[in-house]
Amino acid sequence: MVKKTAAAPLSVWRPINLDTFLLGAPHYPEHVDESYWDRDAERMKRAGFNAVRMGEFAWHLFEPSENVFDFDLFDRAIAGLGRHGIRTIMCTPTATPPRWLTEAYPEVLRVDGNGRAAVHGSRQHADTASPVYRRHSQRITNAMAEHYRDNPNVIGWQTDNELNTSESRSYSAASRREFQLFVKARYGTIDALNAAWGGNFWATAYDRFEQVVLPHDMAPVFPGPGHVQDYHRFLAFSTARFQHDQVEILRATNPDWFIFHNLGRLDDIDFRGQFSTDLDFAGYDIYPFLYDEFNRNGGVGQAQALHLDICRGFSGNFIVPEQQSGFGSQVAFTTLTPEPGEMRRMAMSSVARGADGLMFFRWRPAHFGAEIYWMGIIDHDDVPRRRYAEASRFAADIKSIESQLLGTHVKMDVGIASADFDNQEAHRTYPMGLPSPQDEAVGLHRYCYERGISAGFIHPEDDLSKLKLLYVPHWLIWKDEWTEKLRAFAEAGGTVVLSARTGSRDENNHVIRTAAPGPSLAALAGVEVEEFGPLAGPDSDGLFSLAGPLGPQGTRTRFAAESARRRYRMKIGNREMAAAYMYELLSVKPGTEVRGTWSSRFAEGQAAVTLRHVGKGRVLYLGSYLTADLLDSLIAEEFEIAGIVPELDGKPEAIELAVRQGSGYRLLFVLNTGDATETVGRLPAGDPLIGAEFVFGSSASLPAYEVLVIRIAA
Ligand code: GAL
Repeated sequence: MVKKTAAAPLSVWRPINLDTFLLGAPHYPEHVDESYWDRDAERMKRAGFNAVRMGEFAWHLFEPSENVFDFDLFDRAIAGLGRHGIRTIMCTPTATPPRWLTEAYPEVLRVDGNGRAAVHGSRQHADTASPVYRRHSQRITNAMAEHYRDNPNVIGWQTDNELNTSESRSYSAASRREFQLFVKARYGTIDALNAAWGGNFWATAYDRFEQVVLPHDMAPVFPGPGHVQDYHRFLAFSTARFQHDQVEILRATNPDWFIFHNLGRLDDIDFRGQFSTDLDFAGYDIYPFLYDEFNRNGGVGQAQALHLDICRGFSGNFIVPEQQSGFGSQVAFTTLTPEPGEMRRMAMSSVARGADGLMFFRWRPAHFGAEIYWMGIIDHDDVPRRRYAEASRFAADIKSIESQLLGTHVKMDVGIASADFDNQEAHRTYPMGLPSPQDEAVGLHRYCYERGISAGFIHPEDDLSKLKLLYVPHWLIWKDEWTEKLRAFAEAGGTVVLSARTGSRDENNHVIRTAAPGPSLAALAGVEVEEFGPLAGPDSDGLFSLAGPLGPQGTRTRFAAESARRRYRMKIGNREMAAAYMYELLSVKPGTEVRGTWSSRFAEGQAAVTLRHVGKGRVLYLGSYLTADLLDSLIAEEFEIAGIVPELDGKPEAIELAVRQGSGYRLLFVLNTGDATETVGRLPAGDPLIGAEFVFGSSASLPAYEVLVIRIAA
């Protein structure tokens, strides 16, 4: 049986609190004839699975009409799987309310920005802020929890399914009322709200909370950033509250159950807030072939690593409740097919980057519905082929390392500040065509990934002591207590790199009334921003990435041509390079060194990058955004000074490296993400736990998509 211990506080270094690596697949017994069931369970057992996830879209079966419950189908399915030693993770089915519910209570439907209500026929059509919908969610959760209270085969729960992935916003009457209550609780008086939102700008002030509206985009132009920020805070609040209703019921019913949520698109969820503290651990659904980064940069490995590293930054190790197995499609798109061996490689990459449990999506593909070509472990014709063989092999791999894997954390030398809801949102309230903190950080993440340097994402409130370098990508909203964390980190020998615009807005999303980066960071970095202005992005022909309703035709072109001509350059040592996105002219305090200067146009000779020695460490301020050139110069030099080196020297491009750190040992994962054999030299002395057959002395020859895991003393 799966044993649970108390969950530790949220931290990127936190392992999950189970003693078993959960391994299996999301399973939909309701999609096939019962005659399949025993064969399914027997095959799962043979593959080495220990769990399935079930029920997330089956509300209409659990409750065929209001307050009439029927658990027979799932009871039989759960018992049958249990006979083969396969346990069940149940889901609350609130992503798909049944038709009787939306017919009787149409007020629970989401409403889009144009006033159009969602309709039955797909999913996530109900508004999680609606009090009426919350009551139904509590009812079904209660009924399911009571029913499964003593069922030994039901070991834990997933709340809902990928909350907010299809849509997070709703402009329903219920949402508007709830938003008014939220801001009333937040501000107390309407004057305080008006001050926070800047009511004296464009006469946006209110007389009473009952007048407060939801911020609509382009109706006819832009709402203020304070208003928008609070709307997204509200969405995160109401999403967490919706989940909390369910968690309270489940915990009160059976405290031995573990509870997680499967994160999807990450919109409007504050992962370091109550949403996560309510859970035992995070679940993160990973479809590496689906991401933009993969399409833009051609690296399926890097795209997967990026998403998992971001996820780990919220709350530490996680499980993957849905791991891409075959190709995936919905009506309007399709992905490529993972090639033979690639499904297992992707699963091992998930483990390398912090998965302490994993389910292959899905046991078999559906024959009907909106995802008939989302392939599974078994094919449509009920024949287990290469994906079944790979899943079985993966299960054997995990069995061989499970005891050494659980309890370890992912090593990180380089941390990128992340997982801050307010900062990601503050950017989005007024983006000006600039990359978000998260998007800009992709460059540094890729730089580390390509070199095999251990890197990831971390919140400044977390334990920074295991890092060598922390990069803060222009966090607009800054709290003074974070400065003290950075100072302590630097004093102990760490390197901090702050980039442009950090600390330039307050909690209300107002631009601060002193020079950026604000008094506490200015003191730490020994620098103040005297002037700032936008520049074109590195690959763009000018400013303004937004086309469309932004004024007279041609404006965009004229701005583009001129801003492409006015590229500003900066110099680090002897190296000169074009800057991107933003220039800041820095005034440098005594004791602070100038590490780089502007070298063109009117800015020539003024400080662009500074360095201050703080204790045993270094604090740098970069008055711009990180470009590839800055990574190759400034960051490369800082890595050298900080002693940040690849986990293996001279690794081939297609090889991904990651390290899981245990006490007194490390597991080094060497993963071939490519379709050709790669030779890896200079392996450290150690015990190859997986892939021993590819090791010859201190080198290994890894065929396409093969994996090596070596245990080394450390
Ligand atoms: C996830 C979702 C699943 C399935 C899968 C493939 O986002 O949780 O239910 O839809 O994607 O599209």
